[in-house]
Amino acid sequence: MIKKHVLGLSARLLFFIIPVISGSLIISGSITGLYADRGVKKVMVRLIEYKAEDLIRHSSSQWNLLLENNLQNDPAYMESFENSIRSYSLTMLQEEGEWILAVDEDNSIVFSVGSSASDDSILESAGENAPGETGDIWIDGNFGGESRLGYGFFLPALGWTVYITELRQTFYADLYFIRWNYIIMVLLTAIISSFFIYYYIHRSLSPLKTVISDMQNIVQNRNFGKRVIPVQNDEVGELAREFNLMSDYLDRAMTRLKNIARSEIEMRIEIRNRERETLEVLSKVSDHKDPETARHTSRVGMYASLLSELRGDSTEESDLMRWSVPLHDIGKVGIPDAILLKNGALNKTERLTMEKHVIIGNEVLKDSASPILRAGADIAISHHERWDGSGYPGGLKGRDIPVRGRITGIVDVFDALTTARPYKEAWSLKRAVEYIRERSGTEFDPELVELLFANLERVEAILIEYGDE
Ligand SMILES: [Fe+2]
Ligand SMILES: [Fe+2]
Repeated sequence: MIKKHVLGLSARLLFFIIPVISGSLIISGSITGLYADRGVKKVMVRLIEYKAEDLIRHSSSQWNLLLENNLQNDPAYMESFENSIRSYSLTMLQEEGEWILAVDEDNSIVFSVGSSASDDSILESAGENAPGETGDIWIDGNFGGESRLGYGFFLPALGWTVYITELRQTFYADLYFIRWNYIIMVLLTAIISSFFIYYYIHRSLSPLKTVISDMQNIVQNRNFGKRVIPVQNDEVGELAREFNLMSDYLDRAMTRLKNIARSEIEMRIEIRNRERETLEVLSKVSDHKDPETARHTSRVGMYASLLSELRGDSTEESDLMRWSVPLHDIGKVGIPDAILLKNGALNKTERLTMEKHVIIGNEVLKDSASPILRAGADIAISHHERWDGSGYPGGLKGRDIPVRGRITGIVDVFDALTTARPYKEAWSLKRAVEYIRERSGTEFDPELVELLFANLERVEAILIEYGDE
């Protein structure tokens, strides 16, 4: 059972390979992207933590300096200490969206650098995210009315809580950039690789398509002598060579069959020609002692064949009549010369002996393997029967008389009348037609008589061409 595909081989390969490639690109990209994501995030987090550590380190060193010099209660030094933390924070700002904020123990803003958020929302966010004295916190969410990430820690020297934050958008900017680049890269790779795959499949399949089209031409035109040219030395080439071997075999087999058929036909023609030659010899034998001429037997064959054709019989039947009707009087070879060649009327005994020629003819021919000879046997025994039942040997009536015999009865008499005999002149066509018409319905089958005379010009043509000299 051959499975029929709607899509061609190239389309099927393409529909298989492209999803596989795109799928692997997406899977490998997603894994790489996930690690890149984590890596970038880790670096960014570390950067914010580093800034926090830096600020803590800076404030500790400043504070330790004040403690060493016992200046921790001097308002002027304390103010400059606070100012140094603010300005140090300012130097830490690198990008837009960064925001460093400090609130005191009463949750009032001490300083705020890098952002323009309103005081209310700042205080609210600071209050919500207060790490207290216990430890540092990581901020991730709404802060100052914006989506931010950051770090919050407590400075014990001043009792401040400091928040180092960055806009989520800025924080993840690199990651978003990497992600978009990756999506574009996957799409481009899929498009470009599809193009190359399509081109490659098309190139790879084109010799196969050529071979298939050559094969179709050979099969459709039955031209098995033609060859498929193996373009490549691969599986396609192998297919072409195998097809050529098969085609070659078919070509030889067909030639052999044609030769056999031709010699068969020649043999049949040869056999048929020999059979006809034999039949002519037989007719000549039957004519040998008969006062009728040799041409008589041949002509009655032609008239009978014409009448059979006019009846609408098959070509085989009318051809059969052409060769079997000449044998109608072959039984006369068994009639003594004294009766056969007697001049003048026969007496009753002689006439009965003479009538035996129909039986003898039938006996001689009836067991033949040849259809022509067997038809000759039918004709021999029935050609002297008469339409009204007054004929011999059976006294058959009307359609009980075989049609071959009825045809022969008419044309035998017609030919005897229209040609000269030792005892009479040749009658005119008109007179012969009248004679037969008078006996139509008594001696002859009326339908056959009318059919024959309705085509008198064809009858006459035979008479003219094959008449006696
Ligand atoms: Fe006869
Ligand atoms: Fe005859």
